[in-house]
Amino acid sequence: MTPASEHTEAVEALLHENRHFPPSAAFAAAATTDASIYAEASRDPEAWWAEQARTLAWERPFTTTLEWEVPFARWFADGTLNASVSCVDRHVAAGRGDKVALHWVGEPEGDRVDITYADLLVRISQAAHALTALGVRTGDRVAIYLPMIPEAVVAMLACARIGATHMVIFGGFAPDAIADRVLDADARFVVTADGGYRRGAAAALKPQVDDALRRCPEVAAVLVVRRTGQEVTWVEGRDHWWHELVEAQPERHEAEAFPAEHPLFIMYTSGTTARPKGIVHSTGGYLTQAATTHRIVFDIKADTDICWTSADVGWITGHSYVVYGPLSCGATVLMYEGAPNHPEPDRFWDIIDRHGVTIFYTAPTAIRAFMRWGDDYVKKHSLKSLRLLGSVGEPINPEAWMWYHTLIGKKRCPIVDTWWQTETGCIMVTPLPGITATTPGSCTLPFFGVVPKILDEQGHEVPRGGGGKLFLKNPWPSMLRTLWGDDERFKKQYWSELPGYYFAGDGARFDADGYLWVVGRIDDVLNVSGHRIGTAEVESALVSHPSVAEAAVVGRPDELKGQALVCFVTLKNNFTAAPELKEQLRAHVAKEIGSLARPDDVRFAAGLPKTRSGKIMRRILKEIAAGGIVKGDTTTLEDFNVVAALQAQEE
Ligand code: WTA
Repeated sequence: MTPASEHTEAVEALLHENRHFPPSAAFAAAATTDASIYAEASRDPEAWWAEQARTLAWERPFTTTLEWEVPFARWFADGTLNASVSCVDRHVAAGRGDKVALHWVGEPEGDRVDITYADLLVRISQAAHALTALGVRTGDRVAIYLPMIPEAVVAMLACARIGATHMVIFGGFAPDAIADRVLDADARFVVTADGGYRRGAAAALKPQVDDALRRCPEVAAVLVVRRTGQEVTWVEGRDHWWHELVEAQPERHEAEAFPAEHPLFIMYTSGTTARPKGIVHSTGGYLTQAATTHRIVFDIKADTDICWTSADVGWITGHSYVVYGPLSCGATVLMYEGAPNHPEPDRFWDIIDRHGVTIFYTAPTAIRAFMRWGDDYVKKHSLKSLRLLGSVGEPINPEAWMWYHTLIGKKRCPIVDTWWQTETGCIMVTPLPGITATTPGSCTLPFFGVVPKILDEQGHEVPRGGGGKLFLKNPWPSMLRTLWGDDERFKKQYWSELPGYYFAGDGARFDADGYLWVVGRIDDVLNVSGHRIGTAEVESALVSHPSVAEAAVVGRPDELKGQALVCFVTLKNNFTAAPELKEQLRAHVAKEIGSLARPDDVRFAAGLPKTRSGKIMRRILKEIAAGGIVKGDTTTLEDFNVVAALQAQEE
């Protein structure tokens, strides 16, 4: 792990940011909450969370709020509920069945469907029956590998309805990555599609699943949505068409309630080892925080807002702010299947105007891409329906923040820069619109009950202004409960850095006003275009290629992607460094993990810089990758010639 002090320079630059944007009087006057909420919630955060939890539909009300045996938390544990009932049935029962739950927009123009809460309930009920007919039982894991189509939401909520734990795998993952996840979670059922649309073409999905399942003989059934009409190969007895099986099922389904701690879903994410971690989320605590943060952070007016979170449901942002947050609030979600630049780079702005989107939540990497495509694409559209903007996934650079504020928000919309993680489940640090003055680049203040601490290498609190490692002190309702099947790894990964504190893996600091600035990962995780990629995962993919002897992967700052993937590779004796081999290695990593992990740069080296004890000195490689001269301490370096050779190659 790199010391947090390395990030000091980057933070230093950010801290010169002194622009403040107080909430506008007009926004504040109409906001659903005011500043008194801080005092109210901080008096007794646990009691406050219990009050929020009671806004969900409980079958058996809970009587306990939090049981905390570090690091295992149980929230509302003696209560029972069904997440799909809280997200859908209760809105229908309250007479809001005709309200649109999903405005779905396909990538091909004109391809769209509006689904009301009543329609959604029917679709979920039928899918729940279908899953049961395939043999799915409460407690089973179901893998979902789908494009951004309504069936993704329906499948997630149908699993929730029958108490099956869903595990959504992002559609960009390659067969091996799918198989690793299916095997780790021991999932016996898969929901997929023939394909999905991306940049004007139909991209196939089922072949990836077919390929992955060769390694997963326990998978008993695959439910296949027909989206593109592509040819598919069919395994008789295992594969079933969604439109044949689901649409033939009864339209009503009696939902059963499950304990609050029942695992709602597993979401795999990259960590410091090659094996991805199965983050386990609960039902009651997770849903409480998803609903509450959605309502408060996005200032939701459920009757009129149209909320668009541009993330894929294959990531945590999609889970919490495309599905569980907005639906539990009874809001209307806009869901878009495809690329932001199809058919033209103004597709997002066209969608916003056409559908009257009021709340738009996206990632800095997307904002930087829009900036690059040029202001003219934005100026063609009025964007007058927008009233609030959000950012998530990586630190937002002040230039991108200002562009978002000026060009998209027309200086009228507050921006909520929200810091959180797959592990935290929901938003943790964020401004509150209408209340908190914002500063470009800072995610500002913790949400209620969240206690961030900046600590140094010795575990001492760093005074305001100083950089250190970001920890969280108190438990929160949507915190991960464990890593699937591996409590020990859960303890070691998150709770061993400083016993009793959750280690976030990020470097950060508080400024003089007590605002939090998160600078980025300080473990071996890279953030490439908002996607978390473990360097160890890429290294292990590289060494699985016959030509590679040793590999080290580091991040290089990248204007568009945040970080770019740079791989240093030493070759086995009988292979020669050649441009074609670089291409082969890039393709190999994409094939092993998925195109999201395709290296930006592969560099051949005769040797990698190592300490005398044989540890690869990544700090040096990072400096070389960034094109800089190696400055830091190299006294532990075993062979300085290695560095000289690598640098010479750069020039
Ligand atoms: C980074 C995405 C700065 C951070 C919800 C974190 C951020 C990782 C922000 C989690 C933000 C997320 N400012 N950094 N507003 N939001 N990050 O698990 O490094 O995909 O640890 O969850 O993204 O990424 P993950």
